[in-house]
Amino acid sequence: MARAFGAALAWLGLAGAATAQTATLPASIGRGEAVLRAAGGCTCHTNYPGEGDDAPELAGGRGLETPFGTFYSTNITPHRKTGIGTWSDADFLRAMTEGRAPDRSHYFPVFPYPAFSNMTRRDLLDLKAYLFSLTPVERENLPPDALPPFRLRAAVAGWKLLNFRPGSFEADAAQSPAWNRGAYLVNGPAHCGECHTPRTLSGGLDRSRWLAGSAEGPEGELAANITPDRRTGIGEWSATDLAWYLETGIKPDGDDTQGLMAEVIEHGYAHVDAADRRAIAEYLLSLPPIEHEMKAPDAGK
Ligand code: HEC
Repeated sequence: MARAFGAALAWLGLAGAATAQTATLPASIGRGEAVLRAAGGCTCHTNYPGEGDDAPELAGGRGLETPFGTFYSTNITPHRKTGIGTWSDADFLRAMTEGRAPDRSHYFPVFPYPAFSNMTRRDLLDLKAYLFSLTPVERENLPPDALPPFRLRAAVAGWKLLNFRPGSFEADAAQSPAWNRGAYLVNGPAHCGECHTPRTLSGGLDRSRWLAGSAEGPEGELAANITPDRRTGIGEWSATDLAWYLETGIKPDGDDTQGLMAEVIEHGYAHVDAADRRAIAEYLLSLPPIEHEMKAPDAGK
């Protein structure tokens, strides 16, 4: 349905303005919606747990707990005062790939720009076109509840020196197109590693234990080891199991998914092409298994 909506918008756009430039833009709104789904629906920007199912979508205000404090997601609707409605393409690309706001201040790394920096320019600009096609919602952004230095944007410069290199996805010619597509999705838009990779003391992603499970993702949920280790990871899952899980949230043992993973499936991965879910599965199951036992932090979460 959302796709039909994108197509309808595309048609309206074409009917409204007939310049060559706008003629290429409408198609990108539909593609941009697909990019948003591949990114898990950007659900961190919707305050579902606070406001329930009728939370204003993508208008921010969701508290994301981290070991460094609680950070609130921002309004990414095209509202001109409280959202991103005045952003240029360059502003959007800089935010997504460098973690910098239009005024050049740094974003806190709870915003997964290390992953998004691997995305193609085309995907990013299509995503922007889609976001700009949504209804603007007026809602002010909230400052973080964190102690200095973690609440200071300037301190993020230091964090970046230690932990951030803007990526750029390079396809591996020795692998299949599906594997490469999976690698792009996992490490780019779908940002699996931002929740599933353990963090170092300074809050960077621990590259030596990539995807090996983390108890320190946003909201402090336990995100499983998703390397194919047979005992501590998903080595017993088949590619079909994994693709099915990304569509339905149902695990091979019949258990269903909770929390953030349920959200990114429901609002995101469930809506991408089936071939993309297969590609993610093929890529993940080809990675080196890493043995890393996950332990529940406290049962109350
Ligand atoms: C926003 C954070 C977040 C993102 C992004 C995310 N996950 Fe998860 N994932 C979680 C959490 C939290 C759980 C635990 C859910 C539960 O306990 O039911 C989980 C569970 C899983 C599981 C179940 C593992 C098991 O042994 O039960 C798999 C498989 C999985 N994720 C794969 C992925 C893949 C593949 C991606 C990227 C395409 C991804 N996840 C992106 C947070 C995330």
